[in-house]
Amino acid sequence: MTSPWTPQSWRSFPAAQQPEWPDPAALDGVTKTLASLPPLVFAGEARDLLSDLGKVAAGEAFLLQAGDCAESFDDCNANIIRDKLKIILQMAIVLTYSTGVPVIKVGRIAGQFAKPRSSPTETKDGEELPSFRGHLVNESDFSSTARVPDPERLLRAYNSSSATLNLLRAFTKGGFADLHQVQRWNQEFIAESEPGQRYNELADGIDKALSFIKTIGLDENEPAIGQVDFFTSHEALVLPYEEALTREDSLTGDWYDCSAHLLWIGERTRQLDGAHVEFLRGVANPLGCKLGPTAAVEEALALCEALNPDRIPGRLTLITRMGADNITEGLRPILRAVTDAGHPVVWVSDPMHGNTFTSKGGRKTRHLDDVIREITGFFAAHEAEGTWPGGIHVELTGDDVTECLGGTTAIADEDLERRYETICDPRLNGRQSLDLAFRVADLLTD
Ligand code: PEP
Ligand code: CO
Repeated sequence: MTSPWTPQSWRSFPAAQQPEWPDPAALDGVTKTLASLPPLVFAGEARDLLSDLGKVAAGEAFLLQAGDCAESFDDCNANIIRDKLKIILQMAIVLTYSTGVPVIKVGRIAGQFAKPRSSPTETKDGEELPSFRGHLVNESDFSSTARVPDPERLLRAYNSSSATLNLLRAFTKGGFADLHQVQRWNQEFIAESEPGQRYNELADGIDKALSFIKTIGLDENEPAIGQVDFFTSHEALVLPYEEALTREDSLTGDWYDCSAHLLWIGERTRQLDGAHVEFLRGVANPLGCKLGPTAAVEEALALCEALNPDRIPGRLTLITRMGADNITEGLRPILRAVTDAGHPVVWVSDPMHGNTFTSKGGRKTRHLDDVIREITGFFAAHEAEGTWPGGIHVELTGDDVTECLGGTTAIADEDLERRYETICDPRLNGRQSLDLAFRVADLLTD
Protein backbone atom coordinates (compact mmCIF):
# COMPACT_ATOMS: atom_id res chain seq x y z
CA MET A 1 0.00 0.00 0.00
CA THR A 2 1.36 3.41 -0.87
CA SER A 3 0.28 6.27 1.37
CA PRO A 4 -1.68 9.19 -0.07
CA TRP A 5 0.22 11.61 -2.26
CA THR A 6 0.36 15.35 -1.68
CA PRO A 7 2.74 17.94 -3.19
CA GLN A 8 4.60 17.76 0.15
CA SER A 9 4.56 13.99 0.73
CA TRP A 10 8.11 13.67 -0.72
CA ARG A 11 9.33 15.39 2.45
CA SER A 12 9.00 12.13 4.45
CA PHE A 13 11.33 10.29 2.05
CA PRO A 14 15.12 10.50 1.71
CA ALA A 15 15.92 13.11 -0.98
CA ALA A 16 19.24 12.58 -2.74
CA GLN A 17 21.27 15.41 -4.29
CA GLN A 18 19.68 18.29 -2.36
CA PRO A 19 21.83 21.35 -1.63
CA GLU A 20 22.57 22.22 1.98
CA TRP A 21 20.79 25.56 2.18
CA PRO A 22 22.56 27.63 4.84
CA ASP A 23 19.36 29.49 5.78
CA PRO A 24 16.26 27.25 5.62
CA ALA A 25 13.99 30.17 6.58
CA ALA A 26 15.17 32.11 3.52
CA LEU A 27 14.39 29.08 1.34
CA ASP A 28 10.88 28.90 2.83
CA GLY A 29 10.32 32.59 2.09
CA VAL A 30 11.34 32.12 -1.54
CA THR A 31 9.21 29.02 -2.09
CA LYS A 32 6.20 30.88 -0.65
CA THR A 33 6.75 33.65 -3.18
CA LEU A 34 7.12 31.11 -5.99
CA ALA A 35 3.92 29.37 -4.95
CA SER A 36 2.04 32.66 -5.38
CA LEU A 37 3.40 33.34 -8.88
CA PRO A 38 1.67 32.19 -12.09
CA PRO A 39 2.44 28.72 -13.47
CA LEU A 40 5.09 28.61 -16.23
CA VAL A 41 3.21 26.03 -18.30
CA PHE A 42 -0.41 24.96 -18.33
CA ALA A 43 -1.96 21.61 -17.58
CA GLY A 44 -3.62 21.49 -21.00
CA GLU A 45 -0.22 21.81 -22.69
CA ALA A 46 1.19 18.97 -20.59
CA ARG A 47 -1.80 16.87 -21.67
CA ASP A 48 -1.08 17.70 -25.33
CA LEU A 49 2.47 16.44 -24.85
CA LEU A 50 1.15 13.33 -23.08
CA SER A 51 -1.02 12.60 -26.08
CA ASP A 52 1.89 13.20 -28.51
CA LEU A 53 4.08 10.87 -26.45
CA GLY A 54 1.29 8.30 -26.51
CA LYS A 55 1.81 8.26 -30.28
CA VAL A 56 5.53 7.70 -29.74
CA ALA A 57 4.76 4.78 -27.41
CA ALA A 58 2.57 3.33 -30.17
CA GLY A 59 5.37 3.62 -32.76
CA GLU A 60 3.63 6.43 -34.63
CA ALA A 61 5.93 9.33 -33.77
CA PHE A 62 9.56 10.02 -32.77
CA LEU A 63 10.82 12.15 -29.87
CA LEU A 64 13.67 14.64 -30.15
CA GLN A 65 14.61 15.90 -26.68
CA ALA A 66 17.56 18.26 -26.77
CA GLY A 67 19.26 21.24 -25.21
CA ASP A 68 21.85 22.27 -22.69
CA CYS A 69 23.31 20.01 -20.04
CA ALA A 70 22.91 22.94 -17.65
CA GLU A 71 21.39 26.22 -18.75
CA SER A 72 23.23 29.31 -17.61
CA PHE A 73 21.59 32.48 -16.32
CA ASP A 74 24.16 34.33 -18.44
CA ASP A 75 22.84 32.67 -21.61
CA CYS A 76 19.27 33.89 -21.16
CA ASN A 77 19.34 36.07 -24.25
CA ALA A 78 17.48 36.14 -27.54
CA ASN A 79 20.30 35.04 -29.85
CA ILE A 80 21.32 32.01 -27.83
CA ILE A 81 17.73 30.85 -27.37
CA ARG A 82 16.98 31.43 -31.07
CA ASP A 83 20.04 29.49 -32.23
CA LYS A 84 19.24 26.56 -29.93
CA LEU A 85 15.71 26.49 -31.32
CA LYS A 86 17.06 26.70 -34.89
CA ILE A 87 19.25 23.62 -34.53
CA ILE A 88 16.46 21.63 -32.88
CA LEU A 89 14.07 22.59 -35.70
CA GLN A 90 16.70 21.61 -38.28
CA MET A 91 17.27 18.23 -36.64
CA ALA A 92 13.53 17.66 -36.38
CA ILE A 93 13.05 18.35 -40.10
CA VAL A 94 15.80 15.89 -41.01
CA LEU A 95 14.28 13.24 -38.73
CA THR A 96 10.73 13.85 -39.96
CA TYR A 97 11.86 13.40 -43.52
CA SER A 98 13.60 10.11 -42.80
CA THR A 99 11.30 8.50 -40.25
CA GLY A 100 8.14 9.48 -42.11
CA VAL A 101 6.47 10.08 -38.74
CA PRO A 102 5.90 13.30 -36.79
CA VAL A 103 8.80 14.37 -34.59
CA ILE A 104 7.81 15.58 -31.12
CA LYS A 105 10.10 18.41 -30.05
CA VAL A 106 11.01 18.79 -26.38
CA GLY A 107 13.78 21.15 -25.25
CA ARG A 108 16.06 20.74 -22.26
CA ILE A 109 15.33 24.40 -21.90
CA ALA A 110 13.50 27.06 -19.87
CA GLY A 111 14.24 25.37 -16.53
CA GLN A 112 17.26 23.06 -16.87
CA PHE A 113 19.14 24.80 -14.08
CA ALA A 114 19.88 22.10 -11.47
CA LYS A 115 22.57 19.43 -11.64
CA PRO A 116 23.17 16.22 -9.71
CA ARG A 117 26.86 15.71 -8.91
CA SER A 118 28.91 12.57 -8.40
CA SER A 119 30.59 14.18 -5.38
CA PRO A 120 29.17 16.82 -2.98
CA THR A 121 32.51 18.62 -2.91
CA GLU A 122 35.25 19.53 -5.36
CA THR A 123 38.92 19.90 -4.47
CA LYS A 124 41.41 22.09 -6.36
CA ASP A 125 44.96 22.82 -5.27
CA GLY A 126 44.18 21.47 -1.81
CA GLU A 127 41.03 23.61 -1.35
CA GLU A 128 37.73 21.76 -0.89
CA LEU A 129 34.47 23.55 -1.77
CA PRO A 130 30.85 22.46 -2.28
CA SER A 131 30.29 21.26 -5.87
CA PHE A 132 28.59 23.46 -8.44
CA ARG A 133 24.95 22.29 -8.59
CA GLY A 134 23.59 24.45 -11.40
CA HIS A 135 22.53 28.08 -11.48
CA LEU A 136 19.37 27.23 -9.55
CA VAL A 137 21.63 26.62 -6.55
CA ASN A 138 25.04 28.28 -6.80
CA GLU A 139 27.69 29.69 -9.14
CA SER A 140 30.24 27.67 -11.12
CA ASP A 141 33.33 29.77 -10.23
CA PHE A 142 35.68 27.98 -7.87
CA SER A 143 35.42 30.29 -4.87
CA SER A 144 33.88 29.83 -1.45
CA THR A 145 31.37 32.66 -1.91
CA ALA A 146 30.27 31.45 -5.37
CA ARG A 147 29.53 27.96 -4.15
CA VAL A 148 27.19 28.89 -1.27
CA PRO A 149 23.62 27.74 -2.11
CA ASP A 150 21.47 30.86 -2.47
CA PRO A 151 17.65 30.46 -2.44
CA GLU A 152 17.20 33.76 -4.30
CA ARG A 153 18.41 31.78 -7.31
CA LEU A 154 15.10 29.90 -7.35
CA LEU A 155 13.37 33.16 -8.22
CA ARG A 156 15.96 33.94 -10.85
CA ALA A 157 15.45 30.48 -12.36
CA TYR A 158 11.72 31.11 -12.46
CA ASN A 159 12.23 34.47 -14.17
CA SER A 160 14.76 33.12 -16.69
CA SER A 161 12.46 30.20 -17.47
CA SER A 162 9.57 32.58 -17.93
CA ALA A 163 11.51 34.88 -20.29
CA THR A 164 12.83 31.90 -22.28
CA LEU A 165 9.38 30.36 -22.60
CA ASN A 166 7.93 33.65 -23.69
CA LEU A 167 10.42 33.90 -26.54
CA LEU A 168 10.02 30.24 -27.49
CA ARG A 169 6.26 30.67 -27.70
CA ALA A 170 6.71 33.76 -29.89
CA PHE A 171 9.20 32.00 -32.17
CA THR A 172 7.24 28.78 -32.56
CA LYS A 173 3.80 30.31 -33.00
CA GLY A 174 4.68 33.66 -34.54
CA GLY A 175 6.20 32.78 -37.92
CA PHE A 176 9.86 31.94 -37.17
CA ALA A 177 9.18 28.19 -37.19
CA ASP A 178 7.07 28.43 -40.38
CA LEU A 179 8.24 25.79 -42.86
CA HIS A 180 8.66 28.61 -45.40
CA GLN A 181 11.62 29.68 -43.21
CA VAL A 182 13.35 26.29 -43.39
CA GLN A 183 16.39 27.73 -45.25
CA ARG A 184 16.88 30.45 -42.66
CA TRP A 185 17.43 28.03 -39.77
CA ASN A 186 20.76 27.04 -41.32
CA GLN A 187 23.36 29.23 -39.60
CA GLU A 188 26.37 30.22 -41.68
CA PHE A 189 28.96 28.09 -39.86
CA ILE A 190 26.68 25.08 -40.28
CA ALA A 191 25.68 25.79 -43.89
CA GLU A 192 29.26 25.58 -45.11
CA SER A 193 29.74 22.08 -43.65
CA GLU A 194 28.80 18.78 -45.31
CA PRO A 195 25.69 18.22 -43.16
CA GLY A 196 24.80 21.89 -43.72
CA GLN A 197 24.86 21.38 -47.47
CA ARG A 198 22.86 18.20 -47.20
CA TYR A 199 20.36 20.20 -45.17
CA ASN A 200 20.16 22.86 -47.88
CA GLU A 201 19.22 20.23 -50.44
CA LEU A 202 16.49 18.95 -48.16
CA ALA A 203 15.26 22.50 -47.53
CA ASP A 204 15.14 23.10 -51.31
CA GLY A 205 12.93 20.04 -51.60
CA ILE A 206 10.59 21.41 -48.92
CA ASP A 207 10.44 24.80 -50.70
CA LYS A 208 9.50 23.06 -53.93
CA ALA A 209 6.82 21.03 -52.18
CA LEU A 210 5.39 24.21 -50.62
CA SER A 211 5.26 25.96 -54.03
CA PHE A 212 3.57 22.91 -55.46
CA ILE A 213 0.95 22.97 -52.69
CA LYS A 214 0.32 26.63 -53.47
CA THR A 215 0.16 26.04 -57.23
CA ILE A 216 -2.53 23.45 -56.98
CA GLY A 217 -4.56 25.71 -54.71
CA LEU A 218 -4.13 23.92 -51.34
CA ASP A 219 -3.75 26.08 -48.23
CA GLU A 220 -0.03 26.57 -47.64
CA ASN A 221 -0.73 28.68 -44.55
CA GLU A 222 -2.40 26.14 -42.39
CA PRO A 223 -1.09 25.75 -38.79
CA ALA A 224 0.76 22.49 -39.51
CA ILE A 225 2.99 24.48 -41.87
CA GLY A 226 3.14 27.82 -40.10
CA GLN A 227 3.53 26.74 -36.46
CA VAL A 228 5.37 24.23 -34.34
CA ASP A 229 4.51 22.63 -31.00
CA PHE A 230 7.57 22.93 -28.82
CA PHE A 231 7.63 21.63 -25.26
CA THR A 232 9.98 22.20 -22.33
CA SER A 233 11.60 19.78 -19.92
CA HIS A 234 14.20 19.57 -17.17
CA GLU A 235 15.43 17.25 -14.45
CA ALA A 236 13.13 17.67 -11.45
CA LEU A 237 15.96 17.74 -8.95
CA VAL A 238 15.56 20.48 -6.35
CA LEU A 239 12.24 19.45 -4.88
CA PRO A 240 11.26 22.63 -2.95
CA TYR A 241 11.33 24.46 -6.31
CA GLU A 242 9.22 21.81 -8.06
CA GLU A 243 6.77 21.64 -5.15
CA ALA A 244 6.28 25.42 -5.21
CA LEU A 245 5.29 25.30 -8.87
CA THR A 246 2.91 22.36 -8.47
CA ARG A 247 -0.71 23.34 -8.93
CA GLU A 248 -4.09 21.67 -8.95
CA ASP A 249 -5.70 21.82 -12.39
CA SER A 250 -9.11 23.41 -12.06
CA LEU A 251 -10.45 21.41 -15.00
CA THR A 252 -9.55 17.90 -13.89
CA GLY A 253 -8.59 18.23 -10.22
CA ASP A 254 -5.23 16.60 -11.06
CA TRP A 255 -1.91 18.02 -9.87
CA TYR A 256 0.63 19.30 -12.39
CA ASP A 257 4.20 20.43 -11.88
CA CYS A 258 3.88 23.64 -13.86
CA SER A 259 7.64 24.35 -14.02
CA ALA A 260 7.84 22.47 -17.37
CA HIS A 261 5.77 20.20 -19.59
CA LEU A 262 7.90 17.10 -18.98
CA LEU A 263 9.97 16.40 -15.86
CA TRP A 264 12.52 13.66 -15.59
CA ILE A 265 14.23 11.77 -12.78
CA GLY A 266 17.99 11.44 -13.14
CA GLU A 267 20.17 8.38 -12.83
CA ARG A 268 21.26 9.48 -9.34
CA THR A 269 17.80 10.14 -7.91
CA ARG A 270 15.67 7.26 -9.17
CA GLN A 271 15.65 5.32 -5.86
CA LEU A 272 12.28 3.58 -5.54
CA ASP A 273 11.95 4.58 -1.90
CA GLY A 274 13.31 8.07 -2.49
CA ALA A 275 11.72 11.51 -2.54
CA HIS A 276 12.00 12.10 -6.30
CA VAL A 277 9.97 9.03 -7.27
CA GLU A 278 7.48 9.91 -4.54
CA PHE A 279 7.08 13.48 -5.77
CA LEU A 280 6.78 12.71 -9.47
CA ARG A 281 4.40 9.77 -9.13
CA GLY A 282 1.74 12.26 -8.01
CA VAL A 283 1.91 14.84 -10.79
CA ALA A 284 0.06 14.21 -14.02
CA ASN A 285 2.77 15.57 -16.37
CA PRO A 286 4.50 13.19 -18.73
CA LEU A 287 7.60 11.88 -16.92
CA GLY A 288 11.04 10.68 -17.89
CA CYS A 289 13.40 8.44 -15.96
CA LYS A 290 17.03 7.78 -16.79
CA LEU A 291 18.36 4.22 -16.77
CA GLY A 292 22.13 3.78 -16.54
CA PRO A 293 24.33 0.72 -17.06
CA THR A 294 23.64 -0.71 -13.60
CA ALA A 295 19.83 -0.62 -13.94
CA ALA A 296 18.40 -4.06 -13.20
CA VAL A 297 15.35 -5.46 -14.98
CA GLU A 298 13.44 -5.56 -11.65
CA GLU A 299 14.26 -1.89 -11.03
CA ALA A 300 12.96 -0.87 -14.45
CA LEU A 301 9.75 -2.82 -13.84
CA ALA A 302 9.30 -1.35 -10.37
CA LEU A 303 9.81 2.19 -11.73
CA CYS A 304 7.13 1.54 -14.38
CA GLU A 305 4.73 0.36 -11.66
CA ALA A 306 5.52 3.30 -9.38
CA LEU A 307 5.40 6.02 -12.02
CA ASN A 308 2.74 4.65 -14.36
CA PRO A 309 0.57 2.15 -12.47
CA ASP A 310 -2.38 2.85 -14.80
CA ARG A 311 -0.26 2.09 -17.87
CA ILE A 312 -1.14 5.35 -19.61
CA PRO A 313 0.63 5.51 -22.99
CA GLY A 314 2.99 8.52 -23.10
CA ARG A 315 3.06 8.95 -19.33
CA LEU A 316 6.51 7.37 -18.92
CA THR A 317 9.61 7.79 -21.06
CA LEU A 318 12.55 5.58 -20.11
CA ILE A 319 15.76 7.29 -21.17
CA THR A 320 18.60 4.78 -21.41
CA ARG A 321 22.19 6.01 -21.07
CA MET A 322 24.24 2.87 -20.69
CA GLY A 323 27.32 3.65 -22.78
CA ALA A 324 28.09 2.54 -26.32
CA ASP A 325 29.67 -0.74 -25.15
CA ASN A 326 26.79 -1.79 -22.90
CA ILE A 327 23.64 -0.61 -24.60
CA THR A 328 22.54 -3.51 -26.79
CA GLU A 329 23.04 -6.23 -24.19
CA GLY A 330 21.98 -4.03 -21.27
CA LEU A 331 18.78 -2.86 -22.91
CA ARG A 332 17.40 -6.05 -24.43
CA PRO A 333 16.29 -7.82 -21.21
CA ILE A 334 14.69 -4.58 -19.99
CA LEU A 335 12.81 -4.09 -23.26
CA ARG A 336 11.54 -7.64 -23.09
CA ALA A 337 10.44 -7.56 -19.43
CA VAL A 338 8.74 -4.17 -19.64
CA THR A 339 6.91 -5.12 -22.83
CA ASP A 340 5.83 -8.47 -21.36
CA ALA A 341 4.49 -6.64 -18.31
CA GLY A 342 2.27 -4.58 -20.63
CA HIS A 343 3.86 -1.19 -19.90
CA PRO A 344 3.44 1.24 -22.82
CA VAL A 345 6.82 2.96 -22.48
CA VAL A 346 8.42 5.60 -24.71
CA TRP A 347 11.98 4.33 -25.23
CA VAL A 348 14.58 7.01 -25.72
CA SER A 349 18.35 6.89 -26.11
CA ASP A 350 20.54 9.39 -24.26
CA PRO A 351 23.84 8.61 -26.00
CA MET A 352 25.72 11.32 -24.09
CA HIS A 353 25.94 10.47 -20.40
CA GLY A 354 27.35 6.94 -20.70
CA ASN A 355 30.15 8.10 -23.01
CA THR A 356 31.90 10.89 -21.12
CA PHE A 357 35.66 10.78 -20.54
CA THR A 358 38.51 13.16 -19.73
CA SER A 359 40.61 14.37 -22.65
CA LYS A 360 44.40 14.41 -22.58
CA GLY A 361 44.21 18.12 -21.79
CA GLY A 362 41.92 17.44 -18.81
CA ARG A 363 38.58 18.45 -20.37
CA LYS A 364 35.42 16.44 -19.81
CA THR A 365 34.43 15.39 -23.33
CA ARG A 366 32.56 12.93 -25.57
CA HIS A 367 33.30 11.63 -29.04
CA LEU A 368 30.59 11.89 -31.67
CA ASP A 369 31.52 8.37 -32.86
CA ASP A 370 30.65 6.94 -29.40
CA VAL A 371 27.40 8.90 -29.39
CA ILE A 372 26.47 7.40 -32.75
CA ARG A 373 27.63 3.96 -31.64
CA GLU A 374 25.29 4.06 -28.63
CA ILE A 375 22.34 5.08 -30.82
CA THR A 376 23.21 2.29 -33.27
CA GLY A 377 23.22 -0.21 -30.39
CA PHE A 378 19.93 1.20 -29.13
CA PHE A 379 18.32 0.70 -32.54
CA ALA A 380 19.79 -2.82 -32.76
CA ALA A 381 18.28 -3.78 -29.39
CA HIS A 382 14.85 -2.57 -30.51
CA GLU A 383 15.13 -4.34 -33.83
CA ALA A 384 15.97 -7.57 -32.01
CA GLU A 385 13.07 -7.23 -29.55
CA GLY A 386 10.49 -5.92 -32.00
CA THR A 387 9.99 -2.65 -30.09
CA TRP A 388 9.96 0.96 -31.34
CA PRO A 389 13.10 3.05 -30.75
CA GLY A 390 11.09 6.11 -29.79
CA GLY A 391 13.64 8.88 -29.82
CA ILE A 392 16.90 10.50 -28.84
CA HIS A 393 17.87 12.77 -25.94
CA VAL A 394 20.96 14.90 -26.58
CA GLU A 395 22.98 17.74 -25.08
CA LEU A 396 23.65 20.43 -27.66
CA THR A 397 23.92 24.11 -28.37
CA GLY A 398 23.35 26.01 -31.60
CA ASP A 399 26.76 27.66 -31.19
CA ASP A 400 30.10 26.81 -32.74
CA VAL A 401 31.63 25.51 -29.50
CA THR A 402 34.38 22.90 -29.23
CA GLU A 403 33.34 20.64 -26.37
CA CYS A 404 32.77 17.23 -28.01
CA LEU A 405 35.30 15.48 -30.27
CA GLY A 406 34.77 14.33 -33.86
CA GLY A 407 32.22 15.23 -36.49
CA THR A 408 32.74 16.31 -40.08
CA THR A 409 35.27 18.98 -39.04
CA ALA A 410 37.03 16.40 -36.84
CA ILE A 411 37.33 18.36 -33.60
CA ALA A 412 40.44 17.00 -31.89
CA ASP A 413 41.85 17.13 -28.36
CA GLU A 414 43.81 20.31 -28.98
CA ASP A 415 40.69 22.09 -30.33
CA LEU A 416 38.83 21.69 -27.04
CA GLU A 417 40.56 24.72 -25.52
CA ARG A 418 39.30 27.03 -28.28
CA ARG A 419 35.63 27.32 -27.32
CA TYR A 420 34.91 25.15 -24.31
CA GLU A 421 32.03 27.11 -22.79
CA THR A 422 29.69 24.67 -21.08
CA ILE A 423 29.13 25.13 -17.37
CA CYS A 424 28.58 21.38 -16.97
CA ASP A 425 28.76 18.54 -19.52
CA PRO A 426 30.18 18.90 -23.06
CA ARG A 427 27.56 19.65 -25.73
CA LEU A 428 27.46 18.90 -29.44
CA ASN A 429 27.88 22.08 -31.47
CA GLY A 430 25.47 23.06 -34.25
CA ARG A 431 27.37 21.19 -36.96
CA GLN A 432 27.82 18.03 -34.92
CA SER A 433 24.12 18.11 -34.00
CA LEU A 434 22.98 18.29 -37.61
CA ASP A 435 25.52 15.64 -38.55
CA LEU A 436 24.04 13.44 -35.80
CA ALA A 437 20.50 13.98 -37.12
CA PHE A 438 21.55 12.82 -40.61
CA ARG A 439 23.41 9.81 -39.20
CA VAL A 440 20.33 8.82 -37.18
CA ALA A 441 18.17 9.37 -40.25
CA ASP A 442 20.46 7.08 -42.26
CA LEU A 443 20.27 4.41 -39.54
CA LEU A 444 16.48 4.59 -39.55
CA THR A 445 16.17 4.27 -43.30
CA ASP A 446 18.88 1.60 -43.87
C1 PEP B 1 21.78 14.94 -17.40
O1 PEP B 1 20.86 14.58 -18.16
O2 PEP B 1 22.37 16.03 -17.54
C2 PEP B 1 22.22 14.02 -16.35
C3 PEP B 1 22.83 14.43 -15.27
O3 PEP B 1 21.96 12.76 -16.66
P1 PEP B 1 22.00 11.42 -15.78
O4 PEP B 1 21.01 11.60 -14.68
O5 PEP B 1 21.57 10.38 -16.77
O6 PEP B 1 23.40 11.22 -15.31
CO1 CO C 1 24.53 16.36 -18.72
